Amino acid sequence: MIRVRIFRGGCRGREAARFTSIQAFGKIFCRTENVVRKSTFAPGVKKVPDFAETKVVPGGNQKSPVSSHNEWDPLEEIIVGRVEGATIPSLTHEVKANTNHKNWSFFEKYGGQLFPSQHLHKASGEIEEFCRILSNEGVIVRRPEIVDFSREYSTPDFTSTGLYAAMPRDILLVIGEEIFECPMAWRSRFFEYRAYRKLLKEYFRAGAKWTSPPKPQMSDELYDQSYPMTCVEDRHRLAAEGKFVTTEFEPCFDAADFMRAGRDIFVQRSQVTNMMGIEWMRRHLGPEYNIHVLSFSDPNPMHIDATFNIIGPGLVITNPERPCHQLSMFRNAGWTIAEAPLPTIPDDLPLWMSSKWLSMNVLMLDQKRVVVEKNETPIIKLFERLGLTPIKVPMKYAFSLGGGFHCWTCDVRRRGTLESYM
Ligand code: ARG
Repeated sequence: MIRVRIFRGGCRGREAARFTSIQAFGKIFCRTENVVRKSTFAPGVKKVPDFAETKVVPGGNQKSPVSSHNEWDPLEEIIVGRVEGATIPSLTHEVKANTNHKNWSFFEKYGGQLFPSQHLHKASGEIEEFCRILSNEGVIVRRPEIVDFSREYSTPDFTSTGLYAAMPRDILLVIGEEIFECPMAWRSRFFEYRAYRKLLKEYFRAGAKWTSPPKPQMSDELYDQSYPMTCVEDRHRLAAEGKFVTTEFEPCFDAADFMRAGRDIFVQRSQVTNMMGIEWMRRHLGPEYNIHVLSFSDPNPMHIDATFNIIGPGLVITNPERPCHQLSMFRNAGWTIAEAPLPTIPDDLPLWMSSKWLSMNVLMLDQKRVVVEKNETPIIKLFERLGLTPIKVPMKYAFSLGGGFHCWTCDVRRRGTLESYM
């Protein structure tokens, strides 16, 4: 019988984690392996044909179940992450460089254990509600499998525990009919793709193009061991000088550093996406796409969608604390640039992996409907002024895991065609 550590009664230290036959926040893990067979459809959702048992469709004449060119075309199918199995990362070099120093002792103390169960329970309630709302809006909702991310693994280059399958946006990138499992930079995310494999195989069998770029080795050479991480000023200076915790040892990138607007794809060099990764993508996509590298005044760039969120054809929400250095390119193209108002997230909410700017991390169901946190009144008002229809959904506790509606999802299919908006 395989056992996992269960974190009881919030954060009471390593000693509080106890081994038990597996039951975590009401969900039963029963398995011969650490991936549990579970429906990938959200409950109550109308099923699409199950391709799992069907033969692979020989190329070409089949409409791919994966198809999305931008962030706003009418949404048909989406993957929503899950909290089950979410594990606190250890305080490694790359985690330290990407997180607020206020949380370092938390990672140091509890790394490798499940996130506090009461908090996860509340986050789970919000995510289930989010799934119901998406279904009611006519969207097919799919879910990753449950994985025990607290299980330790080793490769020839490193040993780590996992993180979570909460943020499909971080790992999965859809460009047209192709779905990428991105070569992420955190050691704790090396095996994250396993939670999505069942879905990816299903999409592939039904005609999607499925790509896994070269897997990084993640040996010590991928990380600048001397990256100074003591103060924000240092990080500001280094980011401005183009110095990041990841080196150019090998390509790496997170999907969430990319933002899609048809033929134009915007990306930032970040703590988890290096220039070699961007170049890999440029060559892979070829001349049909323009890859634009954007940069921001941001001491800690990681995932572009709480910094520069393109929510419509020629409409972008920008972060006033992280000005974009290439904004004139968008002005010249006639885009509407809307600055996000200050977030309202209370100070006492733990944000273990992000800033408060998750308020602008919204998800478009089409050009009008925008899913936004229900308490974020200032940005809700902004959306109303822009003529959008806000769909207000609670997301407070789910924010704590490091993402908003855009991060918690990956839009698999939107109805639309490849266009140019620049
Ligand atoms: N790094 C961003 C911030 O702290 C959070 C981005 C979250 N996005 C994501 N896809 N996980 O503001």
